[in-house]
Amino acid sequence: MTEANRDQAEYWNGDVGQRWAASHSTLDAVFAPLTEALFMQAGLRPGNGVLDIGCGAGQTALHAARQVGASGRVVAADLSKPLLTVGRQRAAAEPATTAPIEWIEADAQSNDFGQGTFEHALSRFGVMFFDDSVTAFANICRALAPGGRLTFLCWRALAENPWVQVPRDVVLPLVPDYEAMPTDAPGPFRFADPRTLSPLLGQAGFQDIACEPIDRLLTLSRSVDGPARGAVQAATDIVINLGPVARLLRDRDPALRERAREIVADTLEARVHDGAVRLGAACWLVSARR
Ligand SMILES: C[S@@+](CC[C@H](N)C(=O)[O-])C[C@H]1O[C@@H](n2cnc3c(N)ncnc32)[C@H](O)[C@@H]1O
Repeated sequence: MTEANRDQAEYWNGDVGQRWAASHSTLDAVFAPLTEALFMQAGLRPGNGVLDIGCGAGQTALHAARQVGASGRVVAADLSKPLLTVGRQRAAAEPATTAPIEWIEADAQSNDFGQGTFEHALSRFGVMFFDDSVTAFANICRALAPGGRLTFLCWRALAENPWVQVPRDVVLPLVPDYEAMPTDAPGPFRFADPRTLSPLLGQAGFQDIACEPIDRLLTLSRSVDGPARGAVQAATDIVINLGPVARLLRDRDPALRERAREIVADTLEARVHDGAVRLGAACWLVSARR
């Protein structure tokens, strides 16, 4: 691993990466309405070559492989060993009608993906963490064939994402020493402003850049038969362990984490409707062409 993106490599190979790996099916269910929008926009065709950037535990790579079929190919790249391991395990259960997936532990900013070899590059929330975004997107652009398409999801502003802001607002007072990152630092909300993102993609060599706002209600959890408190606990786990609030609680002592958990659970309890915890999410669905 190069010096670039070392912090991210540590982060996604550490506790948070392990928790994402263990909870991949939960996260895939929560993000399902957003994943659907991503694939509607990408418009993959049988036989296409697809690069999945920051593929995580593989949901989008697997979906791409089903869509492009056995005559296509998918390369799934990520910095995180535990997440790639899950991806490989999941792929082993796929039928022969899906494209082969090459899972590679690689920094998308610097890895040589070949020149002009993919019709599509896509990502679900995997492109906001590069030390040098222009260099990284230029590297991805180079891997696309002329006319090849980039499609990805990134988060809009925190204030438009109650699924993060509601729990964050109640956890922040517990961590007064927490230093918020500069808005342009690698992190989930760095591309909230398309006036930053679009020129950056242009500098990297992309054209026809479009940022479409996507708003969806995310079901963090649902209680089928049991008490709503079960749904609240499950939603709290997602927020505390997996969502951006996890960064606030990184390396905190167990007593503080437990206090945060109680406060978030109380807050989410007030949001239960029909046995489900649902909160709004707002993304940019970004598309561009080489
Ligand atoms: C928010 S997670 C999203 C994972 C997955 N796309 C999903 O939707 O479940 C961000 C992912 O990007 C990966 N990532 C961050 N920086 C990266 C880089 N420079 N190159 C490749 N992957 C990177 C992380 O390891 C992590 O798996």
